[in-house]
Amino acid sequence: MNNLQFNRHRRLRNTAGMRALVRETYLHKEDLIYPIFIIDGNGVKNEVTSMPGVFQISLDYLKAEMEEVSSLGIPSVILFGVPHEHDKDEQGTGAYCHNGLVQEATRQIKKDFPEIVVIADTCLCEYTSHGHCGVVENGKILNDESLELLVKTAISQAEAGADIIAPSNMMDGFVAAIRAGLDEAGYQDIPVMSYAVKYASAFYGPFREAANGAPQFGDRKTYQMDYANRLEAFREAESDVNEGADFLIVKPALSYLDIVRDVKNNFTLPVVAYNVSGEYSMIKAAAQNGWIDEKSIVMEMLTSMKRAGADLIITYFAKDVAGWLND
Ligand code: PBG
Repeated sequence: MNNLQFNRHRRLRNTAGMRALVRETYLHKEDLIYPIFIIDGNGVKNEVTSMPGVFQISLDYLKAEMEEVSSLGIPSVILFGVPHEHDKDEQGTGAYCHNGLVQEATRQIKKDFPEIVVIADTCLCEYTSHGHCGVVENGKILNDESLELLVKTAISQAEAGADIIAPSNMMDGFVAAIRAGLDEAGYQDIPVMSYAVKYASAFYGPFREAANGAPQFGDRKTYQMDYANRLEAFREAESDVNEGADFLIVKPALSYLDIVRDVKNNFTLPVVAYNVSGEYSMIKAAAQNGWIDEKSIVMEMLTSMKRAGADLIITYFAKDVAGWLND
């Protein structure tokens, strides 16, 4: 045994103090973006069945929700609208009407909590009767026709006071179109957080219940990416950088940490990992069964996203995590 040569890595793990000295990655509450679902109506607070702890709330519940978010020290929220079925139409007009759900929620938050960074999710799927993220004609999702509606949506959200526009619909050229539209309307200073690398993923299942935005026919595979592809992520991110994006989102996060790292290594914009609904639901379900320890798993999962290169994380766990970090 005496002449064995090896390294003693365990030296740096021997005590909690030593481990703290060499810890490479930290999760901060400043990294967190909390998603909020605004539902039409009054006095409505529906727990999403497949996402325990996540609620669709009407505007009258927003202030209480934001008080919690703000007192926990979460710097930012991303807003989704959940309109009534009968208010949806082919053109998704609810997405860009002046008194839309996201627009009204934005106004309310910016009035009561001006320091909170409000991110508006810019998409049509929650507002279209067919549930697709763009204009549909003969069963096809049209690209350029959809851009016009997205630009209208982005401008109406900026008018309402949104601090960041986050287009998620995966039409080609959406960053270029929205950037130009915002600039023309006088919103040169509003950044675009692009869902640059968004895969067609079964992990969005519970979100479609939360936002009531499942496609009524077909799927999203003609606009969202094939999960088998990596180089395509470079192309998507590069286009968005060239078109003027200010942040790059990779979505989903957990099964795509290699892509998060690729985007971090190859571009200089802040990288945002979207810890999506299915990633949340899996952990909730297992924790409710007593099969895993929720807090440990969540901290490990989100820290791994930061280790992979995420600067920011959109997560339904934001309030829990901020609470744990504050303790
Ligand atoms: C809308 C949108 C979706 C999500 C965010 N924005 C659904 C989809 O693209 O099908 C998913 C978020 C989640 O699963 O948490 N385009």
